[in-house]
Amino acid sequence: MCGIVGYVGREEAVDFLITGLRRLEYRGYDSAGVATITPRRRLAIARSVGRIDTLEAQIAETPTPGSIGIGHTRWATHGSPTVANAHPHLGGNDVLALVHNGVIENFLSIRSRLESEGYTFTSQTDTEVIAHLIASSLAKQPAVDDMEAAAYEPLVAAVQMALAQLQGTYGLAILFRDYPEVMIAARCGSPLIVGVGSGEHFVASDTSPLAGRTDKIVFLGDHELAVITADSLRVIHRDQGHICHTIRVLDLQTDDIELGQFHHYMLKEIFEQPESITNAMRGRLDFDAATAKFGGLNLTPQQLHHAQRILLTACGTSWHAALVAEYQIEAMARLPVDVEYASELRYRNPPLDHNMLLFAITQSGETADTLAALREVRRKGYPALSICNVVGSTIANEADGGIYLHAGPEIGVASTKAFTSQCVVTALLALYFGRLHHLSFEAGTQIIEQLLQLSNQVRAALETNDRVAEIAATYAHCNNFLYLGRQYNFPTALEGALKLKEISYIHAEGYPAAEMKHGPIALVDKNTPSVFLVPHGTVYDKVMANMQEIKARGGPIIAVVSNGDTEAAQLADDVVEVPEVAEFLQPIVSIIPLQLLAYHIAVARGCDVDKPRNLAKSVTVE
Ligand code: G6P
Repeated sequence: MCGIVGYVGREEAVDFLITGLRRLEYRGYDSAGVATITPRRRLAIARSVGRIDTLEAQIAETPTPGSIGIGHTRWATHGSPTVANAHPHLGGNDVLALVHNGVIENFLSIRSRLESEGYTFTSQTDTEVIAHLIASSLAKQPAVDDMEAAAYEPLVAAVQMALAQLQGTYGLAILFRDYPEVMIAARCGSPLIVGVGSGEHFVASDTSPLAGRTDKIVFLGDHELAVITADSLRVIHRDQGHICHTIRVLDLQTDDIELGQFHHYMLKEIFEQPESITNAMRGRLDFDAATAKFGGLNLTPQQLHHAQRILLTACGTSWHAALVAEYQIEAMARLPVDVEYASELRYRNPPLDHNMLLFAITQSGETADTLAALREVRRKGYPALSICNVVGSTIANEADGGIYLHAGPEIGVASTKAFTSQCVVTALLALYFGRLHHLSFEAGTQIIEQLLQLSNQVRAALETNDRVAEIAATYAHCNNFLYLGRQYNFPTALEGALKLKEISYIHAEGYPAAEMKHGPIALVDKNTPSVFLVPHGTVYDKVMANMQEIKARGGPIIAVVSNGDTEAAQLADDVVEVPEVAEFLQPIVSIIPLQLLAYHIAVARGCDVDKPRNLAKSVTVE
């Protein structure tokens, strides 16, 4: 959701800006723009609605030269996707240009004040208010002859004065027309990083634009502001003044963010799962103690032993992983688990058990609601941990400790490999908590052995790809789907339905298979396929009975079954066979054909798989 890039160096800024914006496309956007300061000290701006290709074509016609620049992909919040609303926005008499991620809540009152001071607005955005506000503060600063020697203090003071008046969230990158060697970046609530190169610096809202350019990253914290030139970087905190910044060296591989042989990131990431699952387990299996081990929980085994209740919070696909975790932890550790949508938890104020431990589950580590829920629980004094993919993300940083997924960058908007990695990590957690309580050494060892086979079983499940593509061709015209499963496969059904909705715009509902009789069965007809998850396990016969009920009403059935299951094949119209695995791992294997089904149906319907309409990869607004 919205992306920022910036460059200060000696090369043409626009080259990095355009490449960087392409790498941020996955976050979701509807318009884009860049601004540079030209060698003649002019602000050159290009903005367009739609894809980066359109912006690039515009720049080819009217270049934006210069070795300092900013760029933005916008996902509309305040004002529709138009050129006028696209970033960068200009401030004052075009003295500055800025790009902004986040939402300014008090923008209307500031706007009327600035209008009464004579500032003219050309957009409906909250961002333009920041641009004029900084310009207005800048006009009040004393003139300084040698700005560089003054360490750009008047610019910093102007930005700080403006930021102090804002309520809401922002990640900002700002250019000043009359100071073409310096950029200011600032952050409160919206992620922003600075990449340190040799004689150049980069700014971005996540690490993907920086792969191949630098691996040295400074993560800005809230209320921090960076003063950046080609050769220098200073970080200033709102309350503490100048602070020493830490440069972290990350492993950023360009392969991770390139498509390679695949047509879409989503398919690439689906096929990466045997590896991402292995990475989620790497170094975390303790064979000697028949348990799992984690490096970053930052709680002692004694503290963890005293956790008598687990609260899981998340949004979207990560919430489905939390539901899987609920089954896993309750079964293995016999601890009560509650799962809450983060957007509900943040305002619900539920009574919490004093021995409660929170896990926020999130791929991006930036989801606004999940962050707010984590903060609320921490504020009340409870330990709050994260299960997160993006290293250095806000939630990972703010949590008391946590577990990284190590799944590599997930670019496709529809989450796939992050989901299975989350379910692996929660299985490890369930094992860990189980062994803290009453799970025997033998049971722990058996679980480890089952986990060790998982990667190959997922690889085998991926071999269903051709069969699933055939099934997709049969049903791609249908406009309603039901996804049905029980126990561990109820969350799988929810996740399968979400995948289809997200990328093919088909209405799909996931339900516990038996609950289907209490309403959704009314939807069943010959044009409404039901996708059943019916692997061998404790509820196999029950789900088979639910399949009969759909069959009796003439609904087509697609069934995901265990290898060699002929019984289910007699009932279903189409069958996909996946390896038989322990029940706590079934969601990880059963979801594979459902991810593929959603993918192939979306492709068959001509949908933009990696950039589905209206969706954003990382939802950084409430
Ligand atoms: C957005 C994405 C979903 C994701 C959800 C939660 O809606 O489109 O794919 O599941 O956010 O994101 P998180 O990064 O917190 O897992």
